[in-house]
Amino acid sequence: MPMRFDILTIFPGIFDSYLHESLFKRAQKQRLIAVRAWNIRDFTDDRHQKVDDRPFGGGPGMVLKVQPILAATKKITRVSAKKGKAMRTRTILFSTRGKRLDAAMAKRLAKYDQLVLICGRYEGVDERVAEHIADEEVSIGDYVLSGGELAALVLMEAVSRHIPGFLGKEESLEEINGSFPTYTRPEAFAPRKGGKLWKVPGVLLSGNHQEIEAWRREKGKA
Ligand code: ADE
Repeated sequence: MPMRFDILTIFPGIFDSYLHESLFKRAQKQRLIAVRAWNIRDFTDDRHQKVDDRPFGGGPGMVLKVQPILAATKKITRVSAKKGKAMRTRTILFSTRGKRLDAAMAKRLAKYDQLVLICGRYEGVDERVAEHIADEEVSIGDYVLSGGELAALVLMEAVSRHIPGFLGKEESLEEINGSFPTYTRPEAFAPRKGGKLWKVPGVLLSGNHQEIEAWRREKGKA
């Protein structure tokens, strides 16, 4: 069964290009992962299809309402359950107040069958989404984004790398060895005519594999 990512957003179109290229494209074709972006607006019970409202207590900006988000999460988990056995689902709300995403969190989340990713927008999301719907809140860094959409893409990519088969043989190398600096031809690149050359470290051209390994360990970040 593919790992499912169900994204709740008011801008589902944001995901179209990124998820249809490269590793994500291949992984979906191979049915290693299944991704669907749901439009929160499709779940509102508001006559005018409003998904946000003014904050209690006053203040600027609009707040995403709890109702369409609950309706969407119910539908998504129901749809998933219908297709087969019960799924291990984790529901995540992206917010600046969340726990910081790191490699250990990505690895842990890769063990679920389904991640429901709620993307906040505007100035906020009704706190009852965090209190009653999401299992955890996640932030991707100490900076403010205008919504959770980019955070969802970052999380999906970090998590998917841990799904067997998602990475090709070559891409897995970084996971195994840690990352180290790499170079390709030419050995000496001339950025300007007659100027100083940009050279590849000699050890990489030496053919001495032990020395190369040692250099990579020294320069790398495991
Ligand atoms: N929404 C706004 N900023 C965010 C961040 N840094 N991480 C996750 N979600 C966000």
